[in-house]
Amino acid sequence: MKSPVVTGPFALGAALAGREQAALLRHRIATQGSVAGRLQVADRDYLNFSANDYLGLADHSAIKAAFKAGIDCYGTGSGASPLVTGYSRAHQQLEETLAEWLGVEAVLLFNCGFSANQAVLKALLGKAHRLWQDKLNHASLQEMGSQLPCKMTRFGHNDMAALASQLEPGRGLIVSEGVFSMDGDQAPWAELARLAGQSGNWLMIDDAHGLGVLGPQGRGTLAAQRVPPASVHIQMGTFGKALGVAGAFVGGSRELVDYLVNFARHYVYSTHMPAAQACAVSKSIELVRAADESRAHLAQLIARFRQGAAALGWQLGASNTPIQPLLVGESTVALQLAERLRALGLWVTAIRPPTVPVGTARLRITLSAAHREQDIDRLLEALGPCTLSATSNEDAADPRGARHA
Ligand SMILES: Cc1ncc(COP(=O)(O)O)c(C=O)c1O
Repeated sequence: MKSPVVTGPFALGAALAGREQAALLRHRIATQGSVAGRLQVADRDYLNFSANDYLGLADHSAIKAAFKAGIDCYGTGSGASPLVTGYSRAHQQLEETLAEWLGVEAVLLFNCGFSANQAVLKALLGKAHRLWQDKLNHASLQEMGSQLPCKMTRFGHNDMAALASQLEPGRGLIVSEGVFSMDGDQAPWAELARLAGQSGNWLMIDDAHGLGVLGPQGRGTLAAQRVPPASVHIQMGTFGKALGVAGAFVGGSRELVDYLVNFARHYVYSTHMPAAQACAVSKSIELVRAADESRAHLAQLIARFRQGAAALGWQLGASNTPIQPLLVGESTVALQLAERLRALGLWVTAIRPPTVPVGTARLRITLSAAHREQDIDRLLEALGPCTLSATSNEDAADPRGARHA
């Protein structure tokens, strides 16, 4: 391959060529339409096993109606940052609903989960503090953690003994995820709460993938694991996954929220999410709380998929959530498999480094309550018997690479 000509200070071409050579180059694909559990690309219909729309709400008529009514009432934008005039009664009502649903004193809304995570770490952690986080945490947490003046330690995935040996009393913050985005497994929250309580450190959960899916009324991973919300100082969740809209929140004590209102730069210096969007999220929460039937259906689909895939010899992760990764190993093989499924009308994304550790490329299959049993059967039939040699997470190197798709 010809070396790209370097035309400026940033060697963009070389970086792109390097990714292409390693089968790691990313492309975007423009989708059409919006039907839960389905996808249209270039006028062809696919079953969608790649979205995080776990309850099939992204296309729900009541949420769309609430969004439209919100636009009629508040307009399309919020017009300003929240401390200027961007904070409306719709935002306030959503904060109150979230606080009551999740059992926290107060809540603050953010435009997305990426900025919510970064805002919290940046606002809290100074030079004298310590940050401990799971090595499989999301890119937003890893990247901000590595840029802060405080010392960050990444503990082995869900390795509580390693965390316990690293903790220093009363020095900072432990952060982990409810459901890990690329693996679908859960962190042990009772143990995390115990370690945080014992060591006098704060604890934060990123429950982007547990909210709406797990626990009574979809209250998330803490509720599913029966961990009292009061034992976790900071709860973060997103609206763009099971809730089917977009945006995020941070919840905790009133003092925490007052502090973030004053010191969280991503909050203070950013135009607030449209009030209409807050109206849509409030409607979504109403539906999510009442969606036990959808969650039961989803659980059945998950069990059906796991049983079928295991019988076909595929290596499954330790996940009882809608995120069901099939470990493949090599990026080229993951891409080929995704391509083969696509040819059969099934949309499954190959996830490659640096999103996941080197050697653990995978098909990240996500299930939705919008799927039917026959959709799962079609996926299993298309996958067919596994012909790959075994790979495992533990065998892989541990790059410090960021986790993003
Ligand atoms: C675990 C986790 N945290 C945070 C985020 C970021 O959320 P958002 O998409 O709202 O920026 C994601 C989304 O991909 C995620 O998977």
